[in-house]
Amino acid sequence: MEQSIEQTTEVLLCLSPGEAADLKEGINFLRNKKTGKDFILYKSKNRVRACKNTCKHQGGLFIKDIEDLDGRSVRCTKHNWRLDVSTMKYVNPPGSFCQDELVVEMDEENGLLLLELNPPNPWDSEPRSPEHLAFGEVQITYLTHACMDLKLGDKRMVFDPWLTGPAFARGWWLLHEPPSDWLERLCRADLIYISHMHSDHLSYPTLKELAGRRPDIPIYVGNTERPVFWNLNQSGVQLTNINIVPFGIWQQVDKNLRFMILMDGVHPEMDTCIIVEYKGHKILNTVDCTRPNGGRLPEKVALMMSDFAGGASGFPMTFSGGKFTEEWKAQFIKAERKKLLNYKARLVKDLQPRIYCPFAGYFVESHPSDKYIKETNIKNDPNELNNLIKKNSDVVTWTPRPGATLDLSRMLKDPTDSKGIIEPPEGTKIYKDSWDFEPYLNILNAAVGDDIFLHSSWIKEYFTWAGFKDYNLVVRMIETDEDFSPFPGGYDYLVDFLDLSFPKERPSREHPYEEIRSRVDVIRHVVKNGLLWDDLYIGFQTRLQRSPDIYHHLFWNHFQIKLPLTPPNWRSFLMHCG
Ligand code: FES
Repeated sequence: MEQSIEQTTEVLLCLSPGEAADLKEGINFLRNKKTGKDFILYKSKNRVRACKNTCKHQGGLFIKDIEDLDGRSVRCTKHNWRLDVSTMKYVNPPGSFCQDELVVEMDEENGLLLLELNPPNPWDSEPRSPEHLAFGEVQITYLTHACMDLKLGDKRMVFDPWLTGPAFARGWWLLHEPPSDWLERLCRADLIYISHMHSDHLSYPTLKELAGRRPDIPIYVGNTERPVFWNLNQSGVQLTNINIVPFGIWQQVDKNLRFMILMDGVHPEMDTCIIVEYKGHKILNTVDCTRPNGGRLPEKVALMMSDFAGGASGFPMTFSGGKFTEEWKAQFIKAERKKLLNYKARLVKDLQPRIYCPFAGYFVESHPSDKYIKETNIKNDPNELNNLIKKNSDVVTWTPRPGATLDLSRMLKDPTDSKGIIEPPEGTKIYKDSWDFEPYLNILNAAVGDDIFLHSSWIKEYFTWAGFKDYNLVVRMIETDEDFSPFPGGYDYLVDFLDLSFPKERPSREHPYEEIRSRVDVIRHVVKNGLLWDDLYIGFQTRLQRSPDIYHHLFWNHFQIKLPLTPPNWRSFLMHCG
C-alpha cells in the first residue's frame, strides 16, 4: 500500500509588513490569535529564524531567560531546559537537541509567513539500510556546471544538463569544457532531473540537441507552482516525456533505485532539490536552493553536492549612483562571498556527508561586452571551500574537473584509494577558451527589427500583459547599445506602476524611482517572447539606478517569476495596429 503522502506547506503565522517591521532585534514572542499557538522569532540583522514555542522535552512553554545576558536564549517553564534561539540548539541539557525550525518566508507585500513543511523529513518514510556496493557499481561523472552523470547499477541519471550555448540570454557561458561525449552520455540516460527553470539548469540549446536524438528521454521535475517547462511550446524543442512529480515522495525507479524531489524554503514556487538513493546510499543534491526543504536535510548521506560560488545575480555589479562606488561593490562582493563560503562550510559540517562536492557555479561572463562584470563578479573558489570544510570536519571533498569520475564504493571504503576518483586524462582541456557567440547573439538581434517595435503602443500592450500594477513605483526604461548608452532611435519611456500609465514626465507625487537601461537586443527578445526578466537581471544585461536605494521585491519578483505563462499576443496586436 502507498504509505507516503505528498509534502505540503501550512501557514502557521502571518505577519503584516508593519508587524514584520516591528520585530525587534533578538527574541520575539508571538501568538497566532486565531489558533492560540505560540511562536518564537529570533531576528538578527536581516535574518529571522523561528520555531514553535513548545519545548522538546515535554511540550512546556518557553519564556525569556533572565540569566541570559546576550538575549539569545529562552527558558522552559516546566523543567528549565534552555534553548538558544539564535542557533536553535538546546544549551541545557548541553549538546543535546535541536529545535525544529519553521520556514520563514517573506510574502508578496514583504510581510512575513511562518510555514511548516509536513512531513518535515519525508525521506524517513520506508527507510532502507545501506547495502554492500561493488566497486564501480555507483559512479558519478562531472560534466559541467550543475551537470552530473550518475551510473547507479544498470541505470543512468543526469542532473541539470547545460552543455552548450549561453544561459540568461547572453550573460553566462560555460567555464568548463564538457567531455566530448556529452551528447552520447545524455542520450543513454534513463532519467534526467531538471531542478528549476533557470537557463543554467534548464538549457534549451542543450535539450534541443538531445531532443534531436531522443525526444522521448524521460525528464523529471518537481511540481512547482510555476511549471519548470512553462516555456516548452515556445522553445520549439520537442520533448515528449516530461514527468512532474509531487514533493517529498519516493519515486521508485527499480528495486535498488529511488529518488525524491524536495522544495526550497525560500523559493518554493520555483526551486527544488533532490535525494537519490541507491541500495540505501543517499546522494543529496541541493543545487541552487537557498534553504532546501526549509533547512531540514538528511544527515550523513554518502555524497552531497551544492552550489557554492555566488555571483548569480546582477546585484551589485549592475548598479550605479549613490553608494554604489567601485570600492563599495568590491567590499560588498568580498563580504558576501565570504558569508556564503562560511554558510556552506557550516551546512556541510552540520550534515556530515561522507563526501562533499561544490558545483553549479562554473560559469563565466565571457562575452567581451561583459568584461566589466567578469572582472568584478568574483566568485568563490571551490578549493577554498573544500579546505575550509576539511579544516573543520573529516568530510572528504571533491573539486570536480570535467570528465572526472568518482567511484562511490571505493571512496566510502577508502577515501585515499587512488582509483576513488579518476581524473580526466592528462592534457584534457579543462577550461573553455572560446565560445560560439554568434548564433545565439543572432537570435537575440533578430528581435530588434521586429514589426512590433514600429508601433510605440507596444509599450502599453506589453505592460498590460505583464499585469503588474497598483504599486507606487515609477520606472524609466531605456533601450541601449552594447555599452549601455541610449540606442539610436531606441525607446526611452516612463512606466508608472501605480496606475499603469506611461507619462511623459515623472509624476509630482512622492514616488520611488528606478532607471533600467537594457541592451536593446535582449529587452526586445524578452518583450517579444514574454520571457522572464532573469535574462536581463541575472544575465547582466541591464544597468540600474534607484532612488531611494531600496529593493522592490514585489516588482522584481513579478517580472522574474510571475509573468503570465503565455506570451503577449503580438499577432493580434499587429493586426489592430495595421
Ligand atoms: S517540558 Fe521543557 S523542560 Fe520539560
